[in-house]
Formats: sequence, C-alpha cells, structure tokens
Amino acid sequence: MSAYRVLPTLALALTVLMTCDANVTLSAPAAVSLVENTSQNISFEASSAVNYTVVLHFNVTYSSRNVTSIILLPEEVLLPAGAQSSSFEVHAEKVGQVTAYLCSDSSDLRGFTARIRFLVIRSRILEIINQVIGWIYFLAWSISFYPQVYENWKRKSVVGLNFDFLALNLTGFIAYSVFNVGLFWVPYMKRGGQKVSKVAIVLLVIGWSFALVTLFLALAGTITWLEYLYYFSYIKLGVTLVKYIPQAYMNYQRKSTEGWSIGNVLLDFTGGTFSLLQMFLQSYNNDEWRLIFGDPTKFGLGVFSIFFDVVFMVQHYCLYRKQEYQLLD
Ligand SMILES: *[C@@H]1O[C@H](CO)[C@@H](O)[C@H](O)[C@H]1NC(C)=O
Ligand SMILES: *[C@@H]1O[C@H](CO)[C@@H](O)[C@H](O)[C@H]1NC(C)=O
Ligand SMILES: *[C@@H]1O[C@H](CO)[C@@H](O)[C@H](O)[C@H]1NC(C)=O
Ligand SMILES: *[C@@H]1O[C@H](CO)[C@@H](O)[C@H](O)[C@H]1NC(C)=O
Ligand SMILES: *[C@@H]1O[C@H](CO)[C@@H](O)[C@H](O)[C@H]1NC(C)=O
Ligand SMILES: *[C@@H]1O[C@H](CO)[C@@H](O)[C@H](O)[C@H]1NC(C)=O
Repeated sequence: MSAYRVLPTLALALTVLMTCDANVTLSAPAAVSLVENTSQNISFEASSAVNYTVVLHFNVTYSSRNVTSIILLPEEVLLPAGAQSSSFEVHAEKVGQVTAYLCSDSSDLRGFTARIRFLVIRSRILEIINQVIGWIYFLAWSISFYPQVYENWKRKSVVGLNFDFLALNLTGFIAYSVFNVGLFWVPYMKRGGQKVSKVAIVLLVIGWSFALVTLFLALAGTITWLEYLYYFSYIKLGVTLVKYIPQAYMNYQRKSTEGWSIGNVLLDFTGGTFSLLQMFLQSYNNDEWRLIFGDPTKFGLGVFSIFFDVVFMVQHYCLYRKQEYQLLD
C-alpha cells in the first residue's frame, strides 16, 4: 500500500519546515496531483505574518523529464507584507513528476522553505479506479488466510495442508500461522503423520536466525531500523519464493487438493493480479515506470506467486477434481 502518493491535494496536505530569525515557518501541500492541460491554484501559509513582502522561488530537485515539459511553475511567488497566506497558479503540461522546494532567498528567512511534489496525471478517473483497486487487493490479501482456517476447523483436520508451506508462511504471516499451528496442537486435530520437513526446518532456522541477528544489530545501532525492516522484507521475499513448492508437490503426490483451501488461492490470486494491475495503471497514469522496472524483485515475485496460484487452481479444478483422498488414520 505504500504506493499512496495519490493523495488529493490540499485537504490532506501537510507540511514543513524550519526556522529563521523570527522562527516563521512555511507550510504548503506536500503533494499536488494535477491532470494534464489544466491549471490549479495552490495556496501556502506562513506561521505568522512578516512585515515585508517575501519573494519565493522554486528550486527543483527532481523531475522525471524536462521540467518545463511537465509543469509550468511561476518565476517567483510573493507573500505580501502582513499577509499570512497566499497562492500561486501552476499549469500542468504532460504526465510526469516534479519535486520542488519553495524557498525564500531573503537572508533572514533562509529556512523558510516547503517541499512540494507535483504529480501530473493523465486522468482523475484512473486515479480513483486505482484507489478502488488498492482497497480490493488490500482486502483480498487481508482475508486470504481465513478460508484455510475455516477449512481446518470444518474438517477438524489439517491433513492436506502442507506443513512446510505453513511453517514458511509463519515468517510471512505470523498471525495466520500462529492460529494454524495452534490448531496443530489441538488434540482432536488429525495430522495424518504430517510434519515439517528437514529442509524447511533448515530454511526456517536460517530465516529466523537472520531476523534475530539483524534485530540485535538494529538494537545495537549498527544498522538502522529502516534497514532492519528491509532485511525483514528480504526474508519475506525468500519465503515467497520457496513456500509454494512443498504444497504443490504434496498435492501432486496425493493427487488431491482436499484439505487445502482453494479460497486462499483465489483470494491470493485476486490480490496479486490487482496489485500488479494497480502498478501498471499507476505507472501509466503518472508516467512512472520505475514503479515496475525500478523494483524487479517485487514485480517478479508478484508474477511468481500468481504463477503458483494458477498451478494450484489447475490442480484443484482440472487435474485432481474427481479423485477422493482416503484418510489414512
Ligand atoms: C527560534 O529558533 C532558534 C534557533 O533556530 C531557537 O534557538 C529559538 O529557541 C527559537 N525561538 C522560539 C520562540 O521558538
Ligand atoms: C493537451 O494539449 C495538447 C496540445 O494542446 C493536446 O495534444 C493533448 O491531446 C491535450 N491533452 C489532453 C489530455 O487534453
Ligand atoms: C487562480 O487564481 C487567480 C486569481 O485569484 C484566478 O484568476 C484564476 O482563474 C485561478 N485559477 C484557477 C485554475 O482556479
Ligand atoms: C519590520 O519589523 C521590524 C521589527 O519587528 C522593524 O525593525 C522593521 O523596520 C519593520 N520593517 C518594515 C518594512 O516595516
Ligand atoms: C537549490 O537546492 C540545492 C540543493 O539543495 C542548493 O544547492 C541550491 O543552492 C539551491 N538553489 C537555490 C537557488 O536555492
Ligand atoms: C529541456 O530544457 C532545456 C532548457 O531547460 C531546453 O533547451 C530543451 O530544449 C528542453 N528539451 C526538451 C526535449 O524539451
């Protein structure tokens, strides 16, 4: 969900910064989204009025293409003497992103700056559709655990649920897995002789040791908490790569998907495809293809998990549809 730079302008706007002699601060919207070929008035505010006219300039720090081909910013912006707020007009030319600092060049107002991200988009409707898609995949992923939980509860059995998959998922989805592992210990649950495999145990030990070691490094201040979170995401990515294989193999061996909830797969598939769709639409709408090509890991893994969801669907709906699995207890 990190892709929410789509926030509509002024209302959610926040901002910034800094002090000067009189400790006057400037606030302007942090992000402004505009549709191609339109103009918009953007207002900004000072924390208190100054008794002379303040002249402000834009200092562009990032632009996806030539600034002038994306947006036309005024040469200078004035904050009249005694006024606490003012506005300026910008014209959006073509899709792209520009980040600029609005800052004063008066020496006693040196820190009087605010950062604004201008996002020029193709269509407002597409922006709304993207937000809806965002909610759909968020919901699909959030509830994708429950079909399996329900399946286990209904059958009073965890036979058919591959424990490697489960154990690996523990790293990705702690809450979900705690619930299922909890079920595993409940005495009336049939386990059918299943257990976590040695390979999976090794992988889990590696994953969790890595998590622990980096936790200590973070506690000791050797790495930042942000880096720690990144490392965690690497573990999750690694888990995603291997977690599907044992379950697919087990289904193949049993020639059955009974006990493995297809609801989980369908929701996961919905989440995966919608998140990719959102990446594409958002990139198209804002001409920001580095969302996709700048993060090949995330993109690749999305595709990979969709691939396995399809494998599971083929197993469930085509290959092993007729067979009945006999419980061996
Ligand atoms: C104004 O800023 C200076 C330095 O930035 C600081 O020392 C001072 O305490 C601030 N004054 C107020 C009233 O915030
Ligand atoms: C914006 O204006 C240009 C030239 O005036 C035109 O070619 C283009 O189709 C317009 N785009 C939109 C979205 O109206
Ligand atoms: C911005 O404000 C100016 C002056 O108040 C006005 O003339 C102009 O039409 C406004 N532009 C937009 C896009 O609202
Ligand atoms: C602005 O106010 C300061 C004192 O706060 C004063 O010294 C200065 O002369 C005033 N400037 C103008 C242009 O009124
Ligand atoms: C623009 O920002 C850069 C980097 O922060 C700075 O070096 C430069 O002096 C700024 N230019 C102006 C005109 O403020
Ligand atoms: C990019 O901007 C420069 C001036 O800043 C201009 O000379 C040049 O023609 C622009 N290039 C394009 C492709 O618009």
